[in-house]
Amino acid sequence: MKLSTAIWLVLFLCVPERLCIARTERSASNSEGEEAFKLLSSIVKEGGRRGLQECENQFKNEIWNCTLNNKEIFRELPIFVKTTLPYATRETAFIHAISSAAITHEITLQCRQGKIPGCSCAVVKKQRRVTDDWQWGGCSDDIRYGEKETRRFIDRLENGNDARTAFNLHNNEVGRKVVRSSVQKECKCHGVTGSCSMKTCWRRLVNFNTIGSKLKEIYFRATQVSFENNKLQERIHKKTRAVSKRERKLVYLDSSPDYCLRNDSVGAPGMLGRTCRSDEVSTTKCKSLCNSCKMWHQTQEHYKLVKCKCQFVWCCTVKCEMCSERYSVTTCSRG
Ligand SMILES: *[C@@H]1O[C@H](CO)[C@@H](O)[C@H](O)[C@H]1NC(C)=O
Ligand SMILES: *[C@@H]1O[C@H](CO)[C@@H](O)[C@H](O)[C@H]1NC(C)=O
Repeated sequence: MKLSTAIWLVLFLCVPERLCIARTERSASNSEGEEAFKLLSSIVKEGGRRGLQECENQFKNEIWNCTLNNKEIFRELPIFVKTTLPYATRETAFIHAISSAAITHEITLQCRQGKIPGCSCAVVKKQRRVTDDWQWGGCSDDIRYGEKETRRFIDRLENGNDARTAFNLHNNEVGRKVVRSSVQKECKCHGVTGSCSMKTCWRRLVNFNTIGSKLKEIYFRATQVSFENNKLQERIHKKTRAVSKRERKLVYLDSSPDYCLRNDSVGAPGMLGRTCRSDEVSTTKCKSLCNSCKMWHQTQEHYKLVKCKCQFVWCCTVKCEMCSERYSVTTCSRG
């Protein structure tokens, strides 16, 4: 129950009945608030963890593979203080965006599943056109709630008036925007069987992997900015222009280090000894990873057992044989 509702209830019960239950109501509401806060904190942590997992998944076959210099970061989630991400690079921007997106996604999802008290389906007010053969109904995901709570938990950690604060806030917002703009319409048919003359539709989050891919595209187009006159400014043809909060564009202040080389201060393990498997990514891609770091590569053949020649056996099992399948492991090396 929201505090305002509780107070309203107290007034309503106190005045006409002269039965003052203000104290019990208030404390009930406070502990409920505390419960909700605790619950949300754990969801925020969970979301942050999922964000980093998706980061690793998206970048597993890139030179920067989402390694962080500090494994402790997983414990500190989602507090991305300067000590864990000291440089405001494109990669740090991505981590901010994907974490904020994951937290928004997680809160919104758990809200739909009824796991968060005080939040449920969203009311979609947008009017449909008369010609539409569908109407809003069902349970729409309440993205606004997810965004609001994400802001409350992670943006409030940023209370300076400096370049890094502006950088963090901007990229956090990009993450939330991508979640919001990826929402899809899902529908269900009504009417005579199979006719689908009338449909009920609701808004639904897309799966987080899709959001991760979108953010990765945005990462590749990130823009370097500077912080002038309290604004993030990008330079275009010798002119500066403030980056609007509305733009879905990741920004960064510091150039990235060379991730090919080991650099402990940024937590980059370097590409020497990096491996990739041909059953996960093409051998060409594996080799080009090493080559783009001016390294050689060594390739070893391996075999693994996989199920094959599967047949349906009446009734009702599937019988397979085991076949050995070849794959190779490519390792970046000095020579
Ligand atoms: C590591 O990266 C930082 C940030 O880009 C850079 O300032 C530093 O010189 C690098 N260190 C090495 C040993 O390359
Ligand atoms: C990233 O690459 C390094 C080696 O360059 C490897 O040790 C590490 O496990 C990789 N991380 C992920 C998440 O794949």
